[in-house]
Amino acid sequence: MEDLVAGINMLIAKDASPEVMVQYFQNYKNDDWKKYAMWDPYRYTRNLIEEVDGKYSLILLCWPESNASAIHDHPNSDCIMKCLSGTVKETRFAWPEKKKTKMTETGYTVGTEGDVIHINDDLGLHRVENPSSSEGAVTLHFYFPCIHECLVFDEETGKARRVKMTYTSIRGVKQTPQQKFLPSSYAHFFEELSNFVNLNNCLVSDIGKSGASGGLFAVLHRAENPLAEAVRRFVLSFENQLEVR
Ligand SMILES: [Fe+2]
Repeated sequence: MEDLVAGINMLIAKDASPEVMVQYFQNYKNDDWKKYAMWDPYRYTRNLIEEVDGKYSLILLCWPESNASAIHDHPNSDCIMKCLSGTVKETRFAWPEKKKTKMTETGYTVGTEGDVIHINDDLGLHRVENPSSSEGAVTLHFYFPCIHECLVFDEETGKARRVKMTYTSIRGVKQTPQQKFLPSSYAHFFEELSNFVNLNNCLVSDIGKSGASGGLFAVLHRAENPLAEAVRRFVLSFENQLEVR
């Protein structure tokens, strides 16, 4: 990975074009990314390998079976994504023009090990997913310049909202939930949650306590009723939106 990063630094110093970067990542054929791979059975993880603020970030994403990102943009940045393991499906969408209409899909690509794709805001929006129900997938993402927040879109209405990026691990060190989710994220979560469903007080306070101590899922996983399941799905979708690549 040191060699890959050294080459990136050299190309960035030369102001290399996205086309040159795509070629560079096509030539990366090592498995030294494996030490950065961290898995969560419920959602994809984002593992920062290297970041030079203002210049670029290199991130490893591990996708459990059938997991997908939200539809998102890449503000003022080029994103190069290489499939390292498994299969990924990238679905592209046009920027929404009319309010409250379903977003228009413009095409999709299914990539397997070694495939590289490039996207930026001129090329459209996209969703990335692992279409397999039996095998995980791993992708390497290179953003230049770095992105710290982006827009995520509701496919049915085209409605967008801005979210901040978080990392599951940074340079191989796992982040605690407190490091991952800023207080502002929690506040936003509860605001969204109260809009989502009219919960009974007991469940809300349980989630709050759990959230404050950093264990957002603990209570939800123990709870067994249809409402808890609906909330669990909501939490997963909310966190997916928080952690878009
Ligand atoms: Fe993306």
